[in-house]
Amino acid sequence: MASKYLFLTTSTRERGHLGNTEWLAQQAAAALPAGAQQTWHALAQMQIPPFVDQRHTTGQYPQPSGDMLTLLQATLDCTDLVFVAPVYWYSIPAPLKLYLDHWSAWMRIPGVPFKEAMAQKTLHLITTSGDRAKSQPMIDSIALCAGFLNMHFAGVLWGKGGPPDAVRADAQALAQAQQFFAASALAAPSRG
Ligand SMILES: Cc1cc2nc3c(=O)[nH]c(=O)nc-3n(C[C@H](O)[C@H](O)[C@H](O)COP(=O)(O)O)c2cc1C
Repeated sequence: MASKYLFLTTSTRERGHLGNTEWLAQQAAAALPAGAQQTWHALAQMQIPPFVDQRHTTGQYPQPSGDMLTLLQATLDCTDLVFVAPVYWYSIPAPLKLYLDHWSAWMRIPGVPFKEAMAQKTLHLITTSGDRAKSQPMIDSIALCAGFLNMHFAGVLWGKGGPPDAVRADAQALAQAQQFFAASALAAPSRG
């Protein structure tokens, strides 16, 4: 089966201002084999409603509409999910947190086998921040989210960010970007 990569960019920089994390993700994506499909969505530009916890009331959720349906379908459709997420307060940016909270709803839409589908997917994390050591709680959090849904967590690509274009000076991150998806493909367990 051809790989389908879904890149979710989550920086909150103003529209049209390319962030460090997205630039680093672009370098990694450029090294994907020609047959690999790429879909990109910018979560901060999408309408993601507040999440409401109905687990212990209605216990289920209707099919979403609008951008949420787009995101649900794109998430179900991919083989590889790539979070393109700078470190914000040792954690993830709010648009990604909100998207993740909606996974709790998507697990409870009648007729949507969300958990089963997610267990077949691989999750990758591309991040930038000022300090690698202090990004660890965020990386651990994402790895735990993958584990909760029995996804394969293929690892993290980290670059030194800061102001726009700062990561372009991180030669190690650029070299790792060019190998990032190839390395995770070699390490991935066989599925099926
Ligand atoms: C709200 C906010 C919180 C941040 N928190 C951290 C942090 O906890 N640790 C850190 O090293 N950098 C932090 N940063 C800096 C960003 O991680 C860094 O500038 C990153 O490269 C931005 O990514 P972008 O250019 O893709 O938007 C923060 C930036 C913002 C806007």
